[in-house]
Amino acid sequence: MQQPISGFSKRNKAEKIKWIVEQHFEDPKAAAALLTSYSHPDASVQEKHDEFIENTLSNFYLPMGVAPNFLINGRYFTLPMVIEESSVVAAAGKAAKYWADRGGFRTTILGMEKVGQIHFLCSEKSDIVQAFFESAKKTLIRSCAPLLERMEKRGGGLLDLKLINKTAALADYYQLHATFDTQDAMGANFINSVLEQLAKQLLIASRDYPAFAAQEQPVEVVMSILSNYVPNCLVRAEVRCPVTELEAEDNLTPEAFAQKVIQAVQIAQVEPYRAVTHNKGIMNGIDAVVLATGNDFRAIEAGIHAYAARDGHYRSLTKAFIENETFVFQMDLPLAVGTVGGLTQLHPMVKWSLELLQNPSARELMQIIAVAGLAQNFAAIRSLVTSGIQQGHMKMHLLNILNQLDASAEQKEQAIEFFKTNAVSHSAVQAFLTSKA
Ligand code: MEV
Repeated sequence: MQQPISGFSKRNKAEKIKWIVEQHFEDPKAAAALLTSYSHPDASVQEKHDEFIENTLSNFYLPMGVAPNFLINGRYFTLPMVIEESSVVAAAGKAAKYWADRGGFRTTILGMEKVGQIHFLCSEKSDIVQAFFESAKKTLIRSCAPLLERMEKRGGGLLDLKLINKTAALADYYQLHATFDTQDAMGANFINSVLEQLAKQLLIASRDYPAFAAQEQPVEVVMSILSNYVPNCLVRAEVRCPVTELEAEDNLTPEAFAQKVIQAVQIAQVEPYRAVTHNKGIMNGIDAVVLATGNDFRAIEAGIHAYAARDGHYRSLTKAFIENETFVFQMDLPLAVGTVGGLTQLHPMVKWSLELLQNPSARELMQIIAVAGLAQNFAAIRSLVTSGIQQGHMKMHLLNILNQLDASAEQKEQAIEFFKTNAVSHSAVQAFLTSKA
């Protein structure tokens, strides 16, 4: 039975590995050897990885692929994609080519505003709390000057600070709702430092406010933290072309294909079971580029799904419609990403990915990521409403099945040839390998 351990994080790496493999694995030697084999051979690179988190024992690889031919606002990009799902990169490449032949992707930044909140309790009357806030606002902001200086030099800073009365939802609950421009940084550390300073000053000011005099500590700060919900840090990506220029598989006419795509998106607008899978396909593209560029995919996932449910109903992130005989496929996406700070300077592969993307600003990276999501959704719907998803998906999955079944290099080559014209399934591949044994 596994025993608890104290002071684990204080042990060195070799000691941690020894304890882990001896406690948990049937073959401790093999388990330790695997960890070593996934460590970077260059000790200085491995050290960087070790220091990203606590208790690093090794690395966990995911494949990094690229999808070329993304024409975005008239410029070509090759997208770096970190993802394990077989068909995603191929689908991105296909959609990129399809739309490059029809004018490419267009993107627009609709807003760059980040958000942070100080959540506090105050039992005073709300008009007194409002008057207190108005009297203290300038001092609060002034107290952050040293923290704001560098960001302001880069053109960003604290944009606004508002008091929001939330007492109808929760007794005595107020917020200071702060908005920020963090330029090319994702800005989490900057925002949280400013919020904590504002909260400190809020407490000081509240103790000095005469109308609160009856209480020693009239304001109780519960917490100060940025929000990953950024509905005003928004990018729009779209493709459009005359309906007659659409091309589909399965001998569908361009008009019938356009209608099927529109219907598929409408279903995802009204039906949450479908919307979740529809949006998951969009996240295949988004997360892959977000990971490759060292951004926080958990924050981005949380923010995007909240946005998809912003009217109280979880819906498709994309829209499809016909406007003056032009087919339009479009998505607005909240995205708080950075191209400076965080992992961008520390992870060698992140630096590589950013150079591949021509060292984008945060605004440009938002546009590229949105395009990756839109392309992925188009590719999925194009297959779903025509041949179905399995044909392409299983073709890409063939190598995984062959590897699971320990096929030799020669068997793999034969199988790839055979399954060009035969349906792929686990049992079909197994039968094929048996026939060749
Ligand atoms: C699979 O990873 C993603 C899809 O299910 C997305 C969709 O259904 O739209 C193909």
